[in-house]
Amino acid sequence: MSSSRAFLLVAALLCAVLAFGDESILPPPRGASAVAPQLVELGRDLFFDTALSADGTVACASCHRPEHAFADPRPVSLGVGNAKGTRNAPSLINRAYGRRFFWDGRADTLEQQAAGPLTHPVEMALTEEETVARVVANPRYRQAFQRNFGEDAPTFAQITQAIATYERALVSPSPYHRWLLRKQPLPEDAERGRLLFFGKARCHLCHNGLHLTTEEFLSVGAGAGEGSQDGGRFEVTMRREDWRLFKTPSLINVARTAPYMHDGSMATLSDVVDFCNRGGDIAENKDYRIVPLGLLAEEKRDLLAFLDALTTNPLPQSLLGPRPSGR
Ligand code: HEC
Ligand code: HEC
Repeated sequence: MSSSRAFLLVAALLCAVLAFGDESILPPPRGASAVAPQLVELGRDLFFDTALSADGTVACASCHRPEHAFADPRPVSLGVGNAKGTRNAPSLINRAYGRRFFWDGRADTLEQQAAGPLTHPVEMALTEEETVARVVANPRYRQAFQRNFGEDAPTFAQITQAIATYERALVSPSPYHRWLLRKQPLPEDAERGRLLFFGKARCHLCHNGLHLTTEEFLSVGAGAGEGSQDGGRFEVTMRREDWRLFKTPSLINVARTAPYMHDGSMATLSDVVDFCNRGGDIAENKDYRIVPLGLLAEEKRDLLAFLDALTTNPLPQSLLGPRPSGR
């Protein structure tokens, strides 16, 4: 190879590294080839738009707040007319890698998932037809759908496709990923915490892999004391053995997504670690892997330092809000 070609090659590689930076260390999520930038932009605008709710007050972003890693800081979310939901809204960062959505796993894809809140009576409370009508009423959306799909009157499926495409762009690595994929060392306390997480504290029995979840349904006994009527996985399968089982959540960004558990019943990560340490609360169907751990105070601190190392790099500003009006 001539030296000028070698130089060009190095320059091209350097550009690739600069363009994708650290983000490229994560493997591409399923369906990522469909992440067309124009469709991401359209999905982003829809995600932040309160017009897609019955009374014009609620957007996806009302419950999935960018400044909280797209989770809801309220224990349970409020929908249209301040109707109170029953579950805590999880983070959407790196959910592109998920295989099951909702705490009970009732959606298999992000597209299917997005249809849920739009038509849910206590969330955005529109019918599919009304959702399409709200989108068609906005000339900017008509233009954007024309650009992306060749027609200015979208179908409901195209609306959820655009939103899901935006969600697939919410991908970012954490120090844990840099450790896992690049062998970059963690801070000392987080490294001690990692050894506990995958050892004495037994967290890895359920939280492992790229995003620290097996997405298995089980009960850790959370929310058991409150007489909650949430049937969890049972509500999807109607099988007795699934009563009050919930999906093991990813722990990516968990330091930013308080409060915790399906019902938002634990205020801090310390509360969660204490809960795990005492072997959960008494619950009929508690998983056999939840047992008292005997963690010392400094071990709990190290575990928390590891959970901190699951915080992802900031996403580009352009993904964190709608485009300014008039652009
Ligand atoms: C009123 C609050 C609210 C609104 C509005 C809302 N969500 Fe959610 N979202 C939640 C709650 C609560 C859950 C958990 C519900 C459950 O598991 O049953 C959730 C779950 C999700 C999940 C599943 C995440 C996972 O890991 O399982 C995704 C994805 C999601 N929402 C995306 C959206 C999108 C896209 C919109 C807009 C079309 C939206 N949400 C609107 C509250 C809301
Ligand atoms: C037997 C499987 C299992 C083990 C072991 C386990 N977890 Fe979990 N974890 C779950 C499940 C399931 C949930 C959701 C429970 C619910 O909402 O009712 C959960 C929830 C959490 C949450 C709340 C996340 C959120 O977004 O609300 C955190 C934090 C957490 N676990 C950390 C840990 C840590 C730290 C350990 C080790 C000390 C651990 N878990 C051990 C299965 C497990």
